[in-house]
Amino acid sequence: PQTHRHQFIIQATPVKRLCKTHNAITVNGQFPGPTLEVNNGDTLIVTVINKAKYNVTIHWHGIRQLRTGWADGPEFVTQCPIRPGGSYTYRFTVQGQEGTLWWHAHSSWLRATVYGALIIRPRRGDSFPFPKPNREAILLMGEWWDANPIDVVRQATRTGAAPNVSDAYTFNGQPGDFYKCSSKDTVVVNIDSGETNLLRVVNSALNQALFFTVANHKLTVVGADASYTKPFTTSVLMLGPGQTTDVLISGNQVPNRYYIAARAYQSAQNAPFGNTTTTAILSYKSAPCAAKKGCASIKPIMPSLPAYNDTATVTAFSKKFRSPRPVPVPTKIDESLFFTIGLGLNNCPRNFKSSQCQGPNGTRFTASMNNVSFVLPSNISILQAFQQRIPGVVTPDFPANPPVKFDYTGNVSQSLFQPVPGTKGYRLKYGSRVQVVLQDTSIVTPENHPIHLHGYDFYIIAEGFGNFNPKTDTKKFNLVDPPLRNTVAVPTNGWAVIRFVADNPGAWIMHCHLDVHITWGLAMVFLVDNGVGQLQSIEAPPPDLPIC
Ligand code: C2O
Repeated sequence: PQTHRHQFIIQATPVKRLCKTHNAITVNGQFPGPTLEVNNGDTLIVTVINKAKYNVTIHWHGIRQLRTGWADGPEFVTQCPIRPGGSYTYRFTVQGQEGTLWWHAHSSWLRATVYGALIIRPRRGDSFPFPKPNREAILLMGEWWDANPIDVVRQATRTGAAPNVSDAYTFNGQPGDFYKCSSKDTVVVNIDSGETNLLRVVNSALNQALFFTVANHKLTVVGADASYTKPFTTSVLMLGPGQTTDVLISGNQVPNRYYIAARAYQSAQNAPFGNTTTTAILSYKSAPCAAKKGCASIKPIMPSLPAYNDTATVTAFSKKFRSPRPVPVPTKIDESLFFTIGLGLNNCPRNFKSSQCQGPNGTRFTASMNNVSFVLPSNISILQAFQQRIPGVVTPDFPANPPVKFDYTGNVSQSLFQPVPGTKGYRLKYGSRVQVVLQDTSIVTPENHPIHLHGYDFYIIAEGFGNFNPKTDTKKFNLVDPPLRNTVAVPTNGWAVIRFVADNPGAWIMHCHLDVHITWGLAMVFLVDNGVGQLQSIEAPPPDLPIC
């Protein structure tokens, strides 16, 4: 195994998109940030130096961080933020994961521009479990605002209203041909007849689930979230924010230029097709018009994409995921948990002005799990408080079940729209076998929530619509070859069941990866330990861990 050292300098960098230039926070002046490439088993040492005016942390999304919880990165969960002028070195080893992950800022909405790919190749001496592709390409899907994303979220927090939606979806930071002033920078992915490409697709968008497709080409899915999957073909992918999907594409069509396209699933914008579709170009080397120059009149071939509300396509796609072979899903369960996930609308607090309550009918948007709206501590991280047994920072009383059961698909009383703020954790004994039913409440609006767990991969053993029914739905559990993921796109108006073994001590946040929802409190933490001094307790933090 090798050790890779990198330096990430967080800085403001002028970036021009959609005809305008503004200062974006970047890593090393690059947008998107640098791609990290390692082999399974390698160690990464990344020194982050903060030269920007905002607090920052970096999270290595999907990395298991076995025994290295201090390197996980979410601010106020595993560390205090790196202040302007400060630095912190993240050290961790990739263990048993292969495929595509990514890294991103985990502080306010900085990840809008502070993100990049993390490619994990097979262990040295090993090969892919599929024929070696001729080429590889990374396609990071993102969102671009014609504004500073920090200002966008601050405005939303101030007013209680929903934040402004982004001005473009992007591939590798580029909006593509359908947006103004963008077409000359459209991303090109090369292929040629007879070749196979491995496309590493990442949804790094802040607030938007996205469909992905390539005109005239079938996609063979071979992995997701850095776990291999049993290969299957599809013409369209759907990725919730946080998710990655590795696909093989074959150069088996007439040599030409074909659009690679992505657009919203369940968009808040519902704007007409075109200006909300980001594109890249799959270009055959032997195409008559391979170079863009002089070919302005010959447009690449456009695919059709599912409608923004096409949940049937999403369901059909997600049902195809299997592990390549039988996997060790825990069959006996020590912790059976049921977490509701959803939005809420808080009544305007008495000491607030109406300008601070601009949500629907003079409310403020909020969100919760089991009716607890998660609040980050502000002067210490949860992991520090947990490791040092400092009381009062996080209380270990996150409920195993919602305080009230109700019909999660219907009209419910306004009283259920009022989650209670709190910094609550759920304690898991080291080694316990955990099942979590994640149930969309459909309060305010039914929505597909991408729920991401730090520090673990989990098996998705079932998904469905309506209210989870413990009597009948357990019969649908796949305990043989379910997919291993770090983010589950919980069906809109439905539920998903995940299982994992709590074999990694630490404080691990589980949250909706729509950043607006984490802003509103759609999160909780698992606290995993056997107690101070015992074998599986948490090690002391590294000496350069930022303090508050
Ligand atoms: Cu990709 Cu908590 O994040």
